[in-house]
Amino acid sequence: MKAAFRKPMRIVQGGMGVAVSNYRLSRAVALAGGLGIVSGTAIGHMLARRLEAGDQDGDMRRALEHFPIPSLAEHVLKKYFRSVKKSGETRFSNIPLFTVEPHFDLIALYLAGNFCEVWLAKEGHDQPIGINYLEKVQLPHLLSIYGAMLAGVDCITMGAGVPTQIPGILAKFAAGESAAYRLHVEGATKTHTAIFDPKQIDPLAGERQLRKPLFFPIIASSLLAEIMVKKSDGDIDGFIIEASTAGGHNAPPRGVLRIDEHNEPIYGEKDIVDLERIRRLGLPFWLAGSYASPEKLREAIALGAQGIQAGTIFALAEESGIAPEWKKIMRKAAYERTLRVRTDMLASSSGFPFKVAEVPGTSSEEKVYLERIRLCDLGFLRTLYEKNGGAIGFRCPSEPVTLYLRKGGKETDTAKRKCLCNALTANIGLGQECRDGYVEPTLFTLGNDTEFVRTLCSGPEDTYAVRDAINYLSEGLTEKKRLTSL
Ligand SMILES: Cc1cc2nc3c(=O)[nH]c(=O)nc-3n(C[C@H](O)[C@H](O)[C@H](O)COP(=O)(O)O)c2cc1C
Repeated sequence: MKAAFRKPMRIVQGGMGVAVSNYRLSRAVALAGGLGIVSGTAIGHMLARRLEAGDQDGDMRRALEHFPIPSLAEHVLKKYFRSVKKSGETRFSNIPLFTVEPHFDLIALYLAGNFCEVWLAKEGHDQPIGINYLEKVQLPHLLSIYGAMLAGVDCITMGAGVPTQIPGILAKFAAGESAAYRLHVEGATKTHTAIFDPKQIDPLAGERQLRKPLFFPIIASSLLAEIMVKKSDGDIDGFIIEASTAGGHNAPPRGVLRIDEHNEPIYGEKDIVDLERIRRLGLPFWLAGSYASPEKLREAIALGAQGIQAGTIFALAEESGIAPEWKKIMRKAAYERTLRVRTDMLASSSGFPFKVAEVPGTSSEEKVYLERIRLCDLGFLRTLYEKNGGAIGFRCPSEPVTLYLRKGGKETDTAKRKCLCNALTANIGLGQECRDGYVEPTLFTLGNDTEFVRTLCSGPEDTYAVRDAINYLSEGLTEKKRLTSL
């Protein structure tokens, strides 16, 4: 089997958006001997908001000093950094919405934001660091990948779509060339493409010798793995294989959709990945979705995997980006075994099922959801569609219904849609406050399995750090060594 890293990576920390897997979490994982993966989703916006919130610990400004295109770093700082918040000023700036030819602010924020996140996660050690993107969020890809490569990112993971175009893009950027991304546009009568030519923005592009990161698609079927290998326009270096119990977005069940009494999709035999077919591909793979225990790590290795990817165990750890007060509530509920996580078919505008943790006071509650007046001001999950005349339009089923219908959307698609963009930024303490004082509510995603909390915490109020989680998981290694000494 092809090797991915110098040493086998047994524990991969999932790239969890928005900024749950931030640079602090991933750096802590790397220092404890695992593979840290930062989330690249919406990270340009998070750079702006962190700077607007005063960049309290100076991390963003320190990373920006190292950003290799200084004029862009200056632009970002000048526009977004506020050393002192004016009283009563709690709103974050509106940033232009992404289009096929993005506004200069977005170019600067996404190149710099991806750079900073990876640069900070890599600070002070030489362990590999990866970055995660959702294929479905197409428009930032070229800028994000180039920004992450400027920081020397070691691998990219990508799910929520079929990312066959990414390997070719990695090769192009590594060769100092421009790259293009064919966009998925509903009702398209022609090909629509986003293009990024680094030379137009980076005076030293072409001379930089950027290293090509490894690429690991996230898949939930052996067929998709085979398609990725056959149809990708470059190298696939391994797979993350995610079961339907994993946190975040899930693949829909295969075959005819069946729903249980709680309105959750029923997954069955067809959804179990055929590992024999995966092994035949000869590429390293990691198993994800309720694998956060020593026993499951051992089982994964016995099945031929390099190890596991875990999310929830790291999302609830001290170092993750989730606001501490909410993490405490969820850890307590997990400890008391009262935390329910459901698979919501409608919550995400992406159209993929999404795991929702039922936490009082969040949009998982009907009354909190209904209080929110529909508004689409971040727009990461908007769908692209072709308008009469061939231009591209943008619509999101959780935007105001009349707007959505005017854009040709169907009313049935709007029911029970949550605004994940705003909720997920609120989760990490960077939520928007509206002009009338309304504060965007939170909405959390976790995997179905939170049983590890019972081992890692001594009681319902207790907490744990990344190192505790990794020490616990590594009990499953037959090597009988701490990961750090592997
Ligand atoms: C809070 C949270 C956010 C997540 N966000 C993403 C994401 O943005 N992209 C992604 O590929 N996977 C995401 N995931 C999935 C994880 O990367 C990982 O594969 C999954 O959590 C593994 O299952 P487990 O939660 O049972 O450990 C997320 C998971 C959680 C818990």
